[in-house]
Amino acid sequence: MSNQLPEIFWEIHSGLPREGPGDNLSTRRAYLMLKELPKNPRILDVGCGPGMQTIELAKLSNGQIDALDNHQPFLDQLEINIKKEALGNKIKTVSGDMINLPYDDGTFNLVWSEGSIFIVGFEKGLRDFERLLVNKGYLVVSELSWLRDNVPSEVNEYLKHLYPAIQTIKGNLNIAKKVGYQNVGFFVLPSESWWTDYYEPIMAKLPSLKEKYKNDKEKLQHIAYHENEIEMFRKYSDYYGYVFYVMQTS
Ligand SMILES: C[S@@+](CC[C@H](N)C(=O)[O-])C[C@H]1O[C@@H](n2cnc3c(N)ncnc32)[C@H](O)[C@@H]1O
Repeated sequence: MSNQLPEIFWEIHSGLPREGPGDNLSTRRAYLMLKELPKNPRILDVGCGPGMQTIELAKLSNGQIDALDNHQPFLDQLEINIKKEALGNKIKTVSGDMINLPYDDGTFNLVWSEGSIFIVGFEKGLRDFERLLVNKGYLVVSELSWLRDNVPSEVNEYLKHLYPAIQTIKGNLNIAKKVGYQNVGFFVLPSESWWTDYYEPIMAKLPSLKEKYKNDKEKLQHIAYHENEIEMFRKYSDYYGYVFYVMQTS
């Protein structure tokens, strides 16, 4: 995902409750696994998007959260929700690049990243974010992962093309271990968390966009690409999903 994406991408991806699979219960479940957080943790939410999880984290913690993204309209959407929820004393939005994070070493007790670490790459992200954490700090990320072996060839080819770095859960746990994290726990997000606040709101936008761009082949292709992505998940959600990985520096 980058800001060089075509206009139609941003037309589809604007005003959605989330920009990837997730739900507040899963955010809460992962947060409650963090047994050694201080009372007032410093938290970085990397690639926060419109920030549904940022708001939930602010409600769960007594901490200070920096919510960082490089797409200003998402940060504007989050600002509106921060005001609505009166959480301005807990969340600061930061326009920044996760590839070059503007923080000193050891700034945070917790680095959180739902559906965004793929932008840096899972292993590189684990390495890059580690320096930001205090000793015994936590890194919590959700990442697209294979959930089963013997994947049907249609979905295997589709995802290997879309996200060649995709790993099994075991593969990602091995990477975390190799980088030097302790595995605190992991769990698969329920498939509803793809539908309710992500795919269903996208699906609701597509018919009017198809009508609007009925004579624009390129935009129609983009819309079809989204429809295909959703169809693949409908067919093959037993084989891949988002997994929360909860890790601690040792
Ligand atoms: C898949 S979305 C996930 C958003 C959010 N965490 C959620 O679950 O709704 C990825 C986010 O990363 C942001 N992003 C992409 N490249 C980035 C970069 N280089 N630096 C910071 N944010 C970036 C996008 O704007 C988008 O909000």
